[in-house]
Amino acid sequence: MDALLLKRHVDARARHADTRRLEALLDRIIPRPDLHARFVNTLARLEYVGVRKMLKSRRAERLDLDGLQHLLDEAVHALRLKKAATALAAAGGAAVTTFADGDTLAGDAGEAYFQALDRRAELALAGTDSDNARAEANYLLTSAAIEVRAQAFYPVYEQRLRAHGAPFSVSAITKDEDRHLQEMSERLQALLGPAPRGLDGVLAEEELLYGRFLAALEAAIEAAEPAAAGETPAARVA
Ligand SMILES: [Fe+2]
Ligand SMILES: [Fe+2]
Repeated sequence: MDALLLKRHVDARARHADTRRLEALLDRIIPRPDLHARFVNTLARLEYVGVRKMLKSRRAERLDLDGLQHLLDEAVHALRLKKAATALAAAGGAAVTTFADGDTLAGDAGEAYFQALDRRAELALAGTDSDNARAEANYLLTSAAIEVRAQAFYPVYEQRLRAHGAPFSVSAITKDEDRHLQEMSERLQALLGPAPRGLDGVLAEEELLYGRFLAALEAAIEAAEPAAAGETPAARVA
């Protein structure tokens, strides 16, 4: 069993150019409570989509204590982030009532990222004989990619929150995601062997999809910034 199977991918993502790009994005978002509220609501939506996917894909005969805990952890992440978003929104005059696109920052793009990743995992598993094994492998491959991203994302976010003196922390989430990453590493290898079929392809696709999601976030900030500065987009271009 290779305990560091997924951890190595977290380290590679930390060195990827998208990490600098994320920091630059966060440094534009965090000082603006209205944008930040919507951004945190996007994160809450992604955690919620994760829960929904687990509820749909995991069969009762495969669900154990760790599986149930994983579900609950992600639901708690969604709730914590939703509460943080609501508090920020109260300060920034934004509405984050639902997970609708307008209540989030690029929330539809975030969900599209997740759905496309799931479809890519499904593709990687085409030809797997039993439906039951395929559903479980699909859950593991998608979750592995998501947990790798979570462990690349949340520590950077926490560091930028501290740098800006933000009133909340995501360090408890990072601790859970670290445990999930380890679990996915073990389960993937137990079900699919030491070099899990499809894993590299799914991780490569995730990197691509994540880049697209960052671009959508950048566009959402651009769209929001001129109004905040009291300018029209046309005046800003001129
Ligand atoms: Fe989570
Ligand atoms: Fe997780």
